Amino acid sequence: MAGTEQQAGNKNKYAGSYRSECLQMKKPDNQVIVILGGRGDLAVRKIIPALFALFRQGLMPERFVVIGTGRSQLSTEAYRQEVRSAITKGADVPSQEETSRFASCFRYVAADPSVTEDYPALSDAVRMVRGELEIGGNTLFYLSVPPGLYDKIFQNLALQGLNDEHDGWKRMIIEKPFGNDYESAVSLNRLLLTHWNENQLFRIDHYLGKETVQNILVTRFSNGIFEPLWNRNYVHHVEITSSESLGVEKRGSYYEGTGALRDMVQNHLLHLVGFIAMEPPSSIDSTSIRNELVKVFESLRPINDEEIGKVTIRGQYTGSHVRGEWLCGYREEENVDPASMTETFAALKFYIDNWRWGGVPFYIRTGKRLPTRVTEAVIHFKPTPHHLFSGDSSCDGCNQLIIRIQPDEGILLKFGMKIPGAGFKVRNVNMDFHYSDLADGRIPEAYERLIFDCMNGDSTLYTRSDAVLAAWKFLDPVLRTWAHDRSVPVYGYPAGTWGPDKADDLIEEPELTWRYPCKNLADDGVYCEL
Ligand code: BG6
Repeated sequence: MAGTEQQAGNKNKYAGSYRSECLQMKKPDNQVIVILGGRGDLAVRKIIPALFALFRQGLMPERFVVIGTGRSQLSTEAYRQEVRSAITKGADVPSQEETSRFASCFRYVAADPSVTEDYPALSDAVRMVRGELEIGGNTLFYLSVPPGLYDKIFQNLALQGLNDEHDGWKRMIIEKPFGNDYESAVSLNRLLLTHWNENQLFRIDHYLGKETVQNILVTRFSNGIFEPLWNRNYVHHVEITSSESLGVEKRGSYYEGTGALRDMVQNHLLHLVGFIAMEPPSSIDSTSIRNELVKVFESLRPINDEEIGKVTIRGQYTGSHVRGEWLCGYREEENVDPASMTETFAALKFYIDNWRWGGVPFYIRTGKRLPTRVTEAVIHFKPTPHHLFSGDSSCDGCNQLIIRIQPDEGILLKFGMKIPGAGFKVRNVNMDFHYSDLADGRIPEAYERLIFDCMNGDSTLYTRSDAVLAAWKFLDPVLRTWAHDRSVPVYGYPAGTWGPDKADDLIEEPELTWRYPCKNLADDGVYCEL
């Protein structure tokens, strides 16, 4: 089992300041972790590396076993080999001894999650390792499988008694999308709650595991200087962008039935809106934070069918040459319908009807095959009431607070300063903080934090069912109209550009535009690197 003393001696960047802070954290209880879909893309790229990062920091339980499941027959030894290769991909190559010790904690069980007859074998394996290694009954199930299988899994695990907490806790991490619209999310929830309790469920949105997303709360609620300005009296509008330079890659069949609104807006972007807009919670516990988040979602002003064409824009990337390389259009991607109407870009304007935000427009946009990968929120403050320094050199509307979620994580404040010399020429300048300065070069991956929290039973950064439902309820009219009303166009945009030009019309004031961010936080105003 994991030798944690030895882990503490590792000379790598995990041994930096983040690690020493983490060591003060409570180690999770002994437990069995079952990854359903243990050989899939998510498991290999995110879950297993996250478990390994926790292992290197001494943050895994004293005793644990990970059981990976998959449809194919495979020996445990072959699976351990896959685990070893999943954790040796990064730049920081671990020692062979370390990878072997970690991989030895893995077992493999061939089980098809859609086949009821396969569950007894899984149940036997869980019970066997518990007994063999005196782990006790605590069990975490990670559903890393297509959502179409969820109902089967909820029921079959329960049929095997694997939801029964008489001998230890049982928890389940459920990946998004949770439902496909409001109705389907309600039925999925109902089914889930017939076998499991809400406190056993951990609906994951990996954006909440990002350090910089959590830092929104710290920036807002640990500083006295921002909060007095954080409202309709001083904020002109809020803008959130999450852009990706990649296309749909190998996920065409998933993306076809999903689109940008379901894939990014319903979860990640609305959570960012929630963190930016929420009232101060009474404490930093799970219930208080999640209550405030739901209040924001419930205050989102419903978008009427008649205004959808005006306040929402959808787009789809078309083929284009980017830096000498031909990038194909969405409709030419693998497993995509050549006449597909699925959006790869979505932009929305909406309001939050409450005392803090009444009348302040929120603009959000997300897209694939945009010029760069960047996620950020921009708080645009109102200009001064009287313009003393007018003309070209004025700084109207230049006060912005940019919260950079990724990459080059940090915060940038923009304000006007006098250019030295005659007259009163004003220049917009940047004051920037880069998060890496605090983190000793290493910012933990979102999955690391979230899995660690679940192992410890902390659901603060997981989505509660009422939040999921409120988010679907808000987007349902848009989803319906986009699906059925052909008069709402899907605008094409060439790969490598900032989406359809039409998205600029969402911001009605002629002097305003979206911010066009760069990979580097402070380098704006430069057309972004691709
Ligand atoms: C996932 C979406 O939830 O988030 C993907 O399904 C998207 O389509 C990804 O690429 C973006 O995550 P990140 O952390 O790279 O911004």
